[in-house]
Amino acid sequence: MMNHDVLKALTERVSHGSLEAPGPSSEEVDLITRAAMRAPDHALLRPWRFVVTEGDRRGDLGVVLHESLRLRGVTDEAQLAKALKAPLRAPMIVAVMLDYKAHPKVDRTEQVGSAAAATYAMSLAANALGYGTMWRTGQYATDPHVIEALGGSAQDEVIGFLYIGTRKGPSKNIPELDPGDFLTHF
Ligand SMILES: Cc1cc2nc3c(=O)[nH]c(=O)nc-3n(C[C@H](O)[C@H](O)[C@H](O)COP(=O)(O)O)c2cc1C
Repeated sequence: MMNHDVLKALTERVSHGSLEAPGPSSEEVDLITRAAMRAPDHALLRPWRFVVTEGDRRGDLGVVLHESLRLRGVTDEAQLAKALKAPLRAPMIVAVMLDYKAHPKVDRTEQVGSAAAATYAMSLAANALGYGTMWRTGQYATDPHVIEALGGSAQDEVIGFLYIGTRKGPSKNIPELDPGDFLTHF
């Protein structure tokens, strides 16, 4: 049986950089997280953690990003000011963190793949609830200062900062891609 809603969500997804309040309720966050936790996961390591930032805490996250730049020697005032305001681009940011677990059969690449799949599932679920999303990373994602502030350890990283909120303005056009350009048969 074909589920047209699911196929439409998959084939027509686009990112939304421009987002405003309201963001998801705590019940919706629960549902979105349930979708993420069904990502494929070799040996069921659950190699992810989800850290939600919303409300006034977004300003505190901005301070963490600002400090991340400063610690890396950035002195450009415009760049520093942009970091402070970066988390204000959506009412909610979910940092999907790789919670890496050493395993004899499941290497880091597989665990990153699983956490990335969780990020995508989270994004699709948020879109299904009517919100827009944008997946961001940048150098913050692997900066120990940022990872530690989010409760991670030295071997962890941020797989995605998923910005979630109410779409402001129309969705951008879906790019025309031809499957034949990417698909071959062995
Ligand atoms: C791992 C990952 C990291 C990304 N980081 C950023 C980022 O830091 N800034 C950004 O503008 N887009 C980033 N993107 C891309 C956007 O999320 C988005 O996919 C891209 O703008 C294409 O738009 P579309 O998703 O509507 O096709 C990232 C995507 C992925 C998968």
